[in-house]
Amino acid sequence: MNTKNKGNLAKILCILIGVAMLAVDMFAFVGCTKNSESTLSPTPTEAVVDNKPNTDVATNTGAAPETGTETGSQTGSETVTTGGEDVDTLYPVNACESIFGTRLCENFADDFYVGTCVSYSLTQNETATKVIVEQFNSVTCENEMKPDHLLDKTASKLNGEITVKFPNDTVSMLNWAKDHNLKMRGHTMVWYSQTPNWIFYEDFDTSKSLVSREVMLERMESIIRQEFEYVQENYPDMFYAWDVCNEVIADEGGLRDCLWKQTIGDDYIEQAFTFARKYCGDIKLFINDYNCYVGNKRTTLLSVVKDLAEKGLIDGVGMQSHLDVGYPSVGLYTATMKMFAAFGVEVQITEMDITTDNKTEKGLNVQGQMYGDIMKQVVDWDRDGTVDCTSVTIWGLYDKISWRSSQVPTLFDNIMLPKPAYNALMEITKG
Ligand code: XIL
Repeated sequence: MNTKNKGNLAKILCILIGVAMLAVDMFAFVGCTKNSESTLSPTPTEAVVDNKPNTDVATNTGAAPETGTETGSQTGSETVTTGGEDVDTLYPVNACESIFGTRLCENFADDFYVGTCVSYSLTQNETATKVIVEQFNSVTCENEMKPDHLLDKTASKLNGEITVKFPNDTVSMLNWAKDHNLKMRGHTMVWYSQTPNWIFYEDFDTSKSLVSREVMLERMESIIRQEFEYVQENYPDMFYAWDVCNEVIADEGGLRDCLWKQTIGDDYIEQAFTFARKYCGDIKLFINDYNCYVGNKRTTLLSVVKDLAEKGLIDGVGMQSHLDVGYPSVGLYTATMKMFAAFGVEVQITEMDITTDNKTEKGLNVQGQMYGDIMKQVVDWDRDGTVDCTSVTIWGLYDKISWRSSQVPTLFDNIMLPKPAYNALMEITKG
């Protein structure tokens, strides 16, 4: 056998071993239940894709995708079946060509944190942990710090006051982040979605009436205080930013209708930031939203941010950035970022993913180009002072576990190998 053949054989063996190891890892993933039932019992059927919302929540199932229409419906619960053949056809990979040794976050070390979102099961996986720790220096809990995860109904009823409890899976994730020296974004406190209805009712009982403004303000302050106090006591300096309010602007502009607004009134956003400012310590306060660049929604968001910034209640705007290769244009997206920056606040890209229906090599290159073009502009503006970008988070470590997995929106493919999008970001060199 000549050297070339030996090399090919080694590559094939390497790919087979890699796929087998990943399969074993996947099988070892454990799911977990929410809050009060915070047992960590293995639930192999929830393996890998554990990113579905809980059903015991206020309204919907997460944000609408940013499809270019203002009224898209969300498809976050789709899963992808990845037979080995598909993966090989779609993403011809050389598993021996390891990314280990190159670090994405290192490339932007002087500019901003580079993060990914994580689920509990991901943090239990050795391969994923290795990739995360090597490539990123910031993480966001994908679901495990949302209101439906931290607000404990049983304890609240028992105590007669709203009670925050960080359940075992969340605590495990925070310990994991601490052990690996990862910084964290807090996500999220005041949101219309993935929030239990019972927090808005008398005696935490949805068969009774909605509480008064005064009571809801007390509950709001208490939630915000308890969350900040818990992390400051147990994980000092780990959290650098927090989405105090998430998705508070309606798709058509104006404030989104929700139970927070119904119980407290139109000033509930300002109230939330006022409480947050009181308890946040050094943690920066963010308002976070999707479709920030769309028509009336942008107009409202700009005026809310301006007002909060003038009152010194906000530190930055989180542009979720669930994009598609077809929309928005890089120009529209970045111009919007510049508008927020003009108020003197930080900007963070908090949940970036770019969907594509074209999974051919060409399609993935187009996706990579868009990732690269946006990041190049952000880096340039960050360096010349036009925009103070302090963090960029990709929403999903790799395509298979993304909430929009069928449209392969992340930097790593279904078997966690780097895509053109990853390479495009790595190519942005220091200027
Ligand atoms: C998504 C998660 O990725 C999914 O696992 C979950 O099923 C729904 O929520 N905007 C947000 C994020 O602020 O919290 C959402 O995350 C995506 C849209």
